Amino acid sequence: MRYRALGRTGWQVSEVSFGAWAIGGSWGAVSDDESLAALHQAIDSGVNFIDTADVYGDGRSERLIAQVKRERREGIVVATKAGRRLAPHTADGYNAYNLNGFVEDSLRNLGADCLDLLQLHCPPTDVYYRPEVFGALDDLAKAGKIRHYGVSVERVEEALKAIEFPNVRTVQIIFNCFRQRPAELFFTEARRRGVGILARVPLASGLLSGKLTRDSRFAEDDHRNFNRHGAAFDVGETFAGVDYEVALAAVEEIRRQLPAGANMAPFALRWILMEDAVSCAIPGGKRPAQVAENCAASDMAPLSPETLAAIRRIYDATIRPLVHQRW
Ligand SMILES: NC(=O)c1ccc[n+]([C@@H]2O[C@H](COP(=O)([O-])OP(=O)(O)OC[C@H]3O[C@@H](n4cnc5c(N)ncnc54)[C@H](OP(=O)(O)O)[C@@H]3O)[C@@H](O)[C@H]2O)c1
Repeated sequence: MRYRALGRTGWQVSEVSFGAWAIGGSWGAVSDDESLAALHQAIDSGVNFIDTADVYGDGRSERLIAQVKRERREGIVVATKAGRRLAPHTADGYNAYNLNGFVEDSLRNLGADCLDLLQLHCPPTDVYYRPEVFGALDDLAKAGKIRHYGVSVERVEEALKAIEFPNVRTVQIIFNCFRQRPAELFFTEARRRGVGILARVPLASGLLSGKLTRDSRFAEDDHRNFNRHGAAFDVGETFAGVDYEVALAAVEEIRRQLPAGANMAPFALRWILMEDAVSCAIPGGKRPAQVAENCAASDMAPLSPETLAAIRRIYDATIRPLVHQRW
């Protein structure tokens, strides 16, 4: 496993890290035993950074991470998120009182005195025009409740606005073979300001592992079933917002680009790691075998310029018209 600087936090994080949404919920049935095994596998593979949120299984994901932290001696940095407990989910809800309460809940779930990294959880765009929200985060840092803070965003423009606040240390954004726009302007600006980047949904919810087909079926409580058209949250979070049939055809074209002997999931992650502005990709993993396979991306040889150009052509031809100007 190779490590990269997470912006100006002072942390060197595994370039393939761990996304802990699925082990909390919204991805069909998961067993805690298997989730714990997946987390242990991640640490065995060199992962030292885990992304979670208070709402993933209503604290279940955070509590599993706390358990693994108790069972391991390795230093693990945990990034969590706040804001999605708000109902309705409004900009006004992102106030000091509510943020303090969310932080206290996460501290309890994680069994910690101080959160390593707190991210605003895809707040309404208006939040980025309210300096007082970032003032409240500065106060939480001064009070010793959080070490650093960052944002998780839906749109490139939100990311660009967020990093105008000098203490925003990280931005989490969807970046994968099917969502290439962040690399155009945002990465340059984030690098210039020393902001860390977490590439989320790196496998387009499993599509870029190459295992899904027209006949794949998803449980009722799996967002790949209930949020396929954005019924519950931003449609971009499910299959990266790409129409399923179009995506399957593009996956087959990408498959033709694989170097001999390579698997598609690590290939898709290696594509992300070709961007040096990215601090880490945070693939979700429910099972130890998936995690081990994803971590192998860090050991793969860099992709050739011809391969990168081919992925770009596939994106431009079929995916770009569906997503490029939407996020
Ligand atoms: N708003 C936000 O801030 C936000 C939103 C989304 C995600 N995130 C973060 O980003 C992380 C990653 O995104 P994601 O989990 O949505 O999507 P993802 O990483 O693109 O896909 C993860 C899913 O793909 C499947 N998978 C993983 N590795 C595989 C492999 N090697 N082979 C085959 N299948 C594999 C697993 O599901 P199955 O086995 O069930 O197919 C897994 O749950 C999340 O866990 C979360 O930490 C944040």
